[in-house]
Amino acid sequence: MKKEQVVNCQFSVWYPLFKKHTIKSLVLPIPQNVIDYLLDDGTLVVSGSENNSSQTQTNNSDSDEEDIQWTDDETTTAVTAPEFPEFKIRVQEAINVLGGCVFPKLNWSAPRDANWIALNSSLQCQSLCDIFLLFKSSDFITHDLTQPFLHCSDDSPDPTINYELVLRKWSELIPGAEFRCFVKENKVIAISQRDYTQHYQHIAKQEDSISSAILEFFRDHIQYQFPDEDFVLDVYRDSSGRVWLIDFNPFGEVTGSLLFTWEELTSGKNLTANQTGMRIPSPCLSYRIPRDFLDLTTGEDAYKLIDFLKLKGQQEEEESDEEGEGP
Ligand SMILES: Nc1ncnc2c1ncn2[C@@H]1O[C@H](COP(=O)(O)OP(=O)(O)OP(=O)(O)O)[C@@H](O)[C@H]1O
Ligand SMILES: [Mg+2]
Repeated sequence: MKKEQVVNCQFSVWYPLFKKHTIKSLVLPIPQNVIDYLLDDGTLVVSGSENNSSQTQTNNSDSDEEDIQWTDDETTTAVTAPEFPEFKIRVQEAINVLGGCVFPKLNWSAPRDANWIALNSSLQCQSLCDIFLLFKSSDFITHDLTQPFLHCSDDSPDPTINYELVLRKWSELIPGAEFRCFVKENKVIAISQRDYTQHYQHIAKQEDSISSAILEFFRDHIQYQFPDEDFVLDVYRDSSGRVWLIDFNPFGEVTGSLLFTWEELTSGKNLTANQTGMRIPSPCLSYRIPRDFLDLTTGEDAYKLIDFLKLKGQQEEEESDEEGEGP
């Protein structure tokens, strides 16, 4: 994978080209002091905006940094987060234009690994404070900020990145109706259901018509129009059968291969195992591993993990009590 491929998958590069076929979105440049704040893991997200007592603290200083109380150990200190009044207004205006609820991203990634921290356990945001909470808790966001070219094979200097906040109108997407298309030399070589853990019977029944609709969408609107010939395309098929573009990703290991392996995708072997080249989870696979177990092992559901650990603790206590009660 080349650095150029990563650059081309940034939201603000592809969005103007494919605006008509994707969810309405707005892109805002992120000021450097906001990036510094996102990268600083010593401050918690405690907004001063709803709390007037913090106003004096932020108003009498020119620099946001002076408001942060640094600690020299690893403990996180709950200090008032710095304020970014102008940026905050711009973000709030954009959220309002998009209907009041947004899905936030950085140049490439959404904070998918941090949804557990939000009160609603979702990536739906209504304010900059909601966005900060997710971004500061996400390793995917940190990856975008610190190592966007991690798996690139070329030695050229890293291209300069202008970081941007992507706000997408919140859309309730039907589970199972999202698909990832792997495109090599401008041809779709494989399609995988995006949720590789669940078998949806209604999707299985329409497998052929779904893959035809996706291929038609690709041919009519995407093929030869993206700046690369190798890329990964995420699409969504809505309940009326219309296909929408969700995202572009680099063709390489930074992108999840879902129901394929990168070995299959790069070698081209085994890809035409079925007629359509599309894979959905088999019913046996979905039922083989209980969903709870999957959530626990992948860390997808932190609350489940906490419950599980509590239960385990209780069990151990009971067992040691029983031992004590022996004859
Ligand atoms: N506008 C939206 N409203 C609600 N949910 C959304 C929206 N856009 C995307 N999603 C959901 O969030 C998921 C991740 O979105 P997206 O693909 O943009 O993130 P990503 O960080 O690029 O993911 P990946 O690392 O898999 O490429 C999607 O699969 C979809 O379920
Ligand atoms: Mg993506």
